[in-house]
Amino acid sequence: MNILVYGAGAVGGYLGGKLAQSGQRVTLITRPDTAAAITGDGLTITEGDATFTPPLCAVGHPAAAFTDSTAYDLIILAMKSYDVAEAVAQLAALCPNPAQVMGTQNGIGVEEMVAGCFGAGRTLAGAVTIPISRQGPNRLVVERAGRGLGIAPVAPGQAVDEWVALFREAGINAGARADYRAMKWSKAFLNIMGNATSAILNRPPAELYRLRAIFDLEMSMLRETLAVMRRLEIAVINLPGATARPLARTLAYAPRPLLRLIFSQVIIHGRGDKMPSFHIDLASGKGRSEVVFHNGAIAAAAERAGLAAPVNAALNRVLLGLAQGELTPATFDGRPDRLVAVVERFRSGEVDL
Ligand SMILES: NC(=O)c1ccc[n+]([C@@H]2O[C@H](COP(=O)([O-])OP(=O)(O)OC[C@H]3O[C@@H](n4cnc5c(N)ncnc54)[C@H](OP(=O)(O)O)[C@@H]3O)[C@@H](O)[C@H]2O)c1
Repeated sequence: MNILVYGAGAVGGYLGGKLAQSGQRVTLITRPDTAAAITGDGLTITEGDATFTPPLCAVGHPAAAFTDSTAYDLIILAMKSYDVAEAVAQLAALCPNPAQVMGTQNGIGVEEMVAGCFGAGRTLAGAVTIPISRQGPNRLVVERAGRGLGIAPVAPGQAVDEWVALFREAGINAGARADYRAMKWSKAFLNIMGNATSAILNRPPAELYRLRAIFDLEMSMLRETLAVMRRLEIAVINLPGATARPLARTLAYAPRPLLRLIFSQVIIHGRGDKMPSFHIDLASGKGRSEVVFHNGAIAAAAERAGLAAPVNAALNRVLLGLAQGELTPATFDGRPDRLVAVVERFRSGEVDL
């Protein structure tokens, strides 16, 4: 197959690299400096004990991927959620009728953007549970084995078996899911744990989960999310290599001490002392954050459904304020009391800082 990966960093480089290694023809659209590094020295991927340099082609501008009559069987979007709108507009100008476009972003709302442009039948949803780090423009490391890729159609009932088989042949633990909203919301439910609080307070999630006030705030954030999912009739489902259902059930029924035990273990084993993605985004100084597609999207969906989600709304607002320079990092650095005070104000009906 002929595959294009647009916005190839950690996830795009890895998926494209694995597909290329399994014999598919793969082109990556990356930033020009990354394209130059890959063209010069190849893309090196380390996964477990194996390190490989797949045979692929990288270009530094989208137009360079459409210079001949090449038709792509699959276009994978692998930029961050906040870069998708611009990328989709660029792609539509170059390729108005792509065969199939698959988003791989974390967060809620990307599929609707893609389907709004290309149609639901041409849109696939992907949920990546494989942690991949970028250790240079052309060097990727898979941080943990045993994870995978969920693929769901955006048009109800559309078969995705062909795409699942493609990734499985490439050695990726891919699995089909019937309902893309269930898949993406369940992934978001897992992603938000210890993510915004860690970025705002500049502390690792495992440390924050030991603080009673922040632990309670995190549990409220998750309960708000499940309440929205219930109201929207979105099921909590497990993903390849990541389980969300047992956690959701625990949250509903377990007494507080048991909750602390279970969720602290989940955070310690899932994230350890590593800073999560919202923190990395904030530290990059890009001025944008995927929090908008997580806590922000959850709060917005809650409002539309007539529910209250003050914790999600407050986390989104504070982190966005920090990312955009409206708030100074020192205000919240190591100050859970200040974050808790903002959340209390949102709970009492204030909707701004
Ligand atoms: N990494 C993981 O472990 C992981 C796991 C699961 C899911 N995810 C999700 O997967 C998505 C991608 O994450 P990632 O970690 O792969 O991000 P990443 O390493 O930052 O890769 C995205 C790349 O796309 C580039 N880009 C953005 N817009 C572009 C455009 N118009 N043309 C060309 N290149 C463009 C970015 O360049 P600039 O940086 O210069 O903008 C960046 O190099 C996110 O939604 C993330 O949450 C990541």
